Amino acid sequence: MAKRKPFVGGNWKMNLHLSEALALTEELAAKFRATDKVDVVICPAFAYLAQVGQVLKKAGSGIKLGAQDCYFEANGAFTGEVSLSMLKDVGVSVVLTGHSERRHVLGESDELINRKTRAALAAGLEVILCVGEKLEQREAGMTDGVNLGQTSLGLAGVKPEQMSKVTIAYEPVWAIGTGKTATPADAQAAHARIRSFVKSGLYNEAIGDGLRIQYGGSVKPANAAELFGQADIDGGLIGGASLKAADFLAILDGAVQ
Ligand code: 13P
Repeated sequence: MAKRKPFVGGNWKMNLHLSEALALTEELAAKFRATDKVDVVICPAFAYLAQVGQVLKKAGSGIKLGAQDCYFEANGAFTGEVSLSMLKDVGVSVVLTGHSERRHVLGESDELINRKTRAALAAGLEVILCVGEKLEQREAGMTDGVNLGQTSLGLAGVKPEQMSKVTIAYEPVWAIGTGKTATPADAQAAHARIRSFVKSGLYNEAIGDGLRIQYGGSVKPANAAELFGQADIDGGLIGGASLKAADFLAILDGAVQ
């Protein structure tokens, strides 16, 4: 089977103020040329989505605008939250759900993550559902159990025909922002296990074969190509290295092999 088109995301997290966010967007949009070889999304902080989106639109670079989170209700008394129609209004087409920092720092449950995932898909957005084990879970031999559990709870109620808009990001928590990367073989094994579960436990062969599974956790220019070259790794979700244009562009090169 031909490999899936890689998908690389820049998750800027709570970094970069307006002028920095715009300068980075402008540089990426000027230097990245949309090709049929890789899909790219950048996810700035909520406060700057509209302005970053305007730069992307003007530049016509083909880079998508993503949000780091969303809320599942349409409107109303939910202080501090941002709805999917608001995100769409400012040009967002991709939403992250279940990022490990939302799970483990902000305390989001699988049920909340599932509601957000279903609401984003119902709103017609693409979703990157993030899963991944903590260090103590890996050491206790629970890696696959955690990943498959988060995958199945996150996707509960997602219809087969919606799965073309879903990407899974496997981000082992111990590898995020630590400089420790899963070895390509370990990451490949986790990805293959998630894919086979999607094929035979949750959906079917065709959906599993088509599903893009990104790797995230200390991806940098030096390790991107080897990670992305693994059979079941379809690009990555990049934190720290997505904050510098040169690094992110080099990582994109690593996805086009
Ligand atoms: P780092 O690339 O900084 O490890 O972050 C990964 C991540 O959490 C992307 O969502």
